[in-house]
Amino acid sequence: MSLVPHSRPLVGEEEERAVKRVIHSGYIAQGNEVEKLEKEIARLTSNKSACAVCNGTTALKLILQILGVGKGDEVVLPDYTCTALLYAVRALQAKPRIIDISSSHLQLDAEKFQAFLSPHLKAVILPYMFGIIPRVELYQREGIYLVEDAAQAFGAKQIGRKGIALIYSFYATKMITTGEGGMICGNDISIIERIKELREYDKKDEYSLRFNYKMTDIQAAIGLVQAGKIAGFVERRKKIQEYYDDFFLARDLAFKPSNIEEWIPYRYLVKLPPGTLDRIEKEYRAQGIDAKRPVFQLLHRYLKLPDNLYPESVKYYDSILSLPLYPALKDGEVEQVVEASRKIFEKKC
Ligand SMILES: Cc1ncc(COP(=O)(O)O)c(C=O)c1O
Repeated sequence: MSLVPHSRPLVGEEEERAVKRVIHSGYIAQGNEVEKLEKEIARLTSNKSACAVCNGTTALKLILQILGVGKGDEVVLPDYTCTALLYAVRALQAKPRIIDISSSHLQLDAEKFQAFLSPHLKAVILPYMFGIIPRVELYQREGIYLVEDAAQAFGAKQIGRKGIALIYSFYATKMITTGEGGMICGNDISIIERIKELREYDKKDEYSLRFNYKMTDIQAAIGLVQAGKIAGFVERRKKIQEYYDDFFLARDLAFKPSNIEEWIPYRYLVKLPPGTLDRIEKEYRAQGIDAKRPVFQLLHRYLKLPDNLYPESVKYYDSILSLPLYPALKDGEVEQVVEASRKIFEKKC
């Protein structure tokens, strides 16, 4: 039986034409297309400037590095998130301070954050998991940099104004894709210029610690086509969400965040009874649907911190399942997901 995948990018003929054009131009490394993509993403996100890099993890690392985060500094992260955040902090030898999530929206718990304030705390990374945007002002603190991580939230409107910078990932499964790719956006042009300066090693007058973090023109050409489609992508995601809601809301199985600014549905989150997730995931698979935990592992477990410090993230890690939701999903596949859900949940009622 063929499986409806959990994610699938929507790239087609326009992207193919754009790639061909770049290949035939004879210039395929970082060049004009990357510059155009930076301008376009800055424009679409109402930021003054943007710097393209090779992926979202690098975007996080570079912004923290430019902000001066280093050995001995602390950086706050939520527990229920992508491991990339942990690696970016660790790459700078800074100390990750992992915080539990809020049960109302699954994002970093703003009240628990208060207890982590310290003279060593230099930055907070606020990832908008599943496209959910909490009230961003709750995380602003004098003297602590707020880095907004919109890897899962390209297309959201209520972001990019309260933090020092905003990062995106354009990995294959994200809201728009360049295969691999990332972007740092901000309104402080000098910060973005310094990141551009650090992004490459060649033709520098002075020797200092550098690396190669560039995006190629081939990737950027794909990104430009994708960026032009974001409104349609978001609309299609919302339609699929509504369709699923008809089934799951009626059975009190849909996770719906509260106390938030906005939600662009990057994931469809099903809230399961305790102790059933692994079995239901297998049942979906048997029905030809790839459903998954939306977060692979909790960060505190990598750091061997005790589960009892993270009651909410442990609870949701064990009870939230993500269903296929992306613009490339066909109507027939959406119906297939609902049909499978009917078989799984109605037989239990
Ligand atoms: C919230 C979040 N931040 C950062 C990243 C890292 O992005 P990349 O995979 O492009 O390095 C991801 C990727 O999944 C993510 O979900």
